[in-house]
Amino acid sequence: MEPFPVIRFEPPTLHVLDQVGLPHEERWLALTRLDELEEAIRALRVRGAPLLGLCGAAGVAMAAGHDPGDDALRAAAERIAAVRPTAVELATGAGACLAAALAVPPGERAKTAWAFCREYFRRRQEEDRELAEVGAEMLPAGDVLTHCNTGTLATGGIGTALGVVRAAHARGKLGTCYVTETRPLLQGARLTAWELQRSGIPAMLLPDTAAASLVVSGRVASVVTGADRIAMNGDTANKVGTLGLALAAARGGVPFYIAAPTSTIDPKCKTGAGIPIEFRPETEVGGYGSVRWAPDGVPAWNPAFDVTPAELISGIVTERGVARAPYRESLARLFRATTGEPSDG
Ligand code: MRU
Repeated sequence: MEPFPVIRFEPPTLHVLDQVGLPHEERWLALTRLDELEEAIRALRVRGAPLLGLCGAAGVAMAAGHDPGDDALRAAAERIAAVRPTAVELATGAGACLAAALAVPPGERAKTAWAFCREYFRRRQEEDRELAEVGAEMLPAGDVLTHCNTGTLATGGIGTALGVVRAAHARGKLGTCYVTETRPLLQGARLTAWELQRSGIPAMLLPDTAAASLVVSGRVASVVTGADRIAMNGDTANKVGTLGLALAAARGGVPFYIAAPTSTIDPKCKTGAGIPIEFRPETEVGGYGSVRWAPDGVPAWNPAFDVTPAELISGIVTERGVARAPYRESLARLFRATTGEPSDG
């Protein structure tokens, strides 16, 4: 269950696998400037909440190599965090690396920031492994449905929800992993299907529109997805379409789990109403890449994420254990155990 390489920190360069070309083209990008990193994040060349956290940190490290002054570093962290607003980790990663850099004299900041990135990455991989074991223990045996991509491509480690799938497979508990294609950018069809295939895990792709009937039919024993931000009451933002899966799971009496590291819990967000939702270009809905299938000029509604209310979530699997309702208490406990700080949620 070793992750394959998707990110490398080689000061002054951040190397990332360009996910836009996958699965047919494996191309690496060498990023040294903040505007290059911003473009890569905006275009989803790098994506997935935990991997975005690493990119946020790397953005600060890159900036420190150009201008290690306090104001320049603060501005860089803010700039990176603003590129995609929903995944809390992008801002957290940038902020944590900023704090590490500001704690040392300007001449040492770039070196310190790059060292921070490497250590953050090491911890991230460890957390994925811990989370996967917690999740695999809890997951009912049988087939599972997942959404979007939460694997190595999303974290650099073995993944969150997909890490749970991998660990369940390793324990012999998993039948087939059903994978939604995840319109409009096809993270399920292009990325998750590819990751499962290369790991030898039985995968079955389905159109997003077939997911409700599959889940309600009782054919899957559980649904498990990742998260981009978890409010203190358990409301959870994840890839658009997650809410529909949770509703179908509730209707079908199928457990619906979120798998995400504790760093996804946002103590500043009391409920899902406070989670900012990223809207993406309308052109993504009417075609893919250079192929267009919708007529020009028809507007499109294209939120990248939706919020699943806590009452539809059977459990939130983290590296520190499974949080269950009432989430206000269980998440506050997890948050305290992780950070040592009280949450005001
Ligand atoms: O727009 P994306 O591809 O970055 O969205 C990714 C998701 O929604 C994932 O489920 C989430 O970030 C968790 S990744 C471990």
